[in-house]
Amino acid sequence: MGVTILAIESSCDDTGAAVCVDGKILSNIIANQAVHEKYGGVVPELASRAHLQNIVPVVDTALKISGYALTDIDAIAFTQAPGLIGSLLVGAQFAKSLSLALNKPLIAVNHMQAHVLANLIATEKPTFPFLCLTVSGGHTQIVLCEAPTKMKVIGETIDDAAGEAFDKTAKLLGLPYPGGPLIDKYAAGGNAKRFQFPEPKIEGLNFSFSGLKTSILYFLQNAGTSNVFKEIFMASPEEKQQFIDGNLADICASVQYRIVSILMNKLKKAAQQTGITDICIAGGVSANSGLRKAFKETGDQLGWKTFIPAFEYCTDNAAMIAITGYYKFLQNDFVSLDVSPMPRAGFDN
Ligand code: KG4
Ligand code: ZN
Repeated sequence: MGVTILAIESSCDDTGAAVCVDGKILSNIIANQAVHEKYGGVVPELASRAHLQNIVPVVDTALKISGYALTDIDAIAFTQAPGLIGSLLVGAQFAKSLSLALNKPLIAVNHMQAHVLANLIATEKPTFPFLCLTVSGGHTQIVLCEAPTKMKVIGETIDDAAGEAFDKTAKLLGLPYPGGPLIDKYAAGGNAKRFQFPEPKIEGLNFSFSGLKTSILYFLQNAGTSNVFKEIFMASPEEKQQFIDGNLADICASVQYRIVSILMNKLKKAAQQTGITDICIAGGVSANSGLRKAFKETGDQLGWKTFIPAFEYCTDNAAMIAITGYYKFLQNDFVSLDVSPMPRAGFDN
C-alpha cells in the first residue's frame, strides 16, 4: 500500500487542499479570494473568514477528484508557518480536527520549504544538492537544498520581496492587486531598455527592492523626466496619468527587466560560490515570463540544469504541502495536537 497524504494550505488568501500518493499528486484544488481586489492587498480578517467558508468544499473536492476517501488517508499535512496568523489558524484547526477524528498522524509544513519542494513533483527532478530561488509575494530567498528535509537559506531580501516590488509598482501605476501578472502582461509589448532603474549594491547573496520602489515612485511623480532620488514633484496628477497611459508597456518592461536582473545576478553568484549546477525557481513570481526566459537563457549559457514547477505549483497551492508532507512522513516527522501555527518561522535544518 502506498503512502496517502491529505494536505491543507491556508497561509494567505488561497484555500488549498491536495491528495498525493507516494509523492504523486492526484488532486490539487485551490479557492482564490476575489474579496481583496478592491482593497489593493490582502485584508487578514476577510482572508480568515473566506478560509472558513472555503475549507470544507475545497477538501471535499480534493478527495473526490483523487478517488480516495478520508478513511484511506495515512496522514494530514498542513501549513504551519509562515503566513497570516488568522489564515494559518483555520487550516491548522481543520487539520488537527481531522487528525483527531481519524486517529491519523499530523505533519506540520513550512510554506517556504514547500515552495522549494514543489520542484520534486514533476517526474524529472533536480538532484541533491540543488539551489532554489524562491520568489513570492512575501519572500525572496536563495535556498541550498541538500535533501528533502535538509535545506538552508543562503540569501534573502533585507526589505521588500520580489512579488511586493511587482505589486507595489502596479499600485503606483494604478493597476489592481495583485499587479505582478499584469506587469508581466504589459511588459510583453514594451521596450525594456527605454527606462533605466537602479540596481541596488547589496553585499553577498542578499536582495533589496525598496530602493527600486522609491525610484519608480519619483520617476512617475516626475512623469518620466527623472528617476533619481529627488523629492521634486514636477508633474500634475493629469500629466503623470498621461505619461503612464502613453508609456505603460515600456515602464512595465523596464521595471520587470530590473527586478529580473537583480534576481538573476544573485542567483548566478550563488551558483558560482557553491559550484551547484542543478538550479530551480519557485514561488508565485516564478510564473513571470521575463524571469522564466532569463533563467532558461542563463542556465543554457552557464551549463545549469534548470527546473521550474508547473504553473499550478508555482503560486500558492496545497500540492507542494502534500509533497513536503510525503517526505516528512517517510522520516516519521509528525507533530502532536498541541502544535501552534506561527506567522514567522525560518527553516534552517
Ligand atoms: O507564492 P505566491 O502565490 O503567494 C505568496 O506566498 O506570496 O506569490 C504571489 C506573488 C504576488 O506578488 C504576485 O503578484 C506574484 O506572485 N506573481 C507574479 C506573476 N504571477 C504572480 N509576479 C510577476 N509576474 C507574474 N506573472
Ligand atoms: Zn507562497
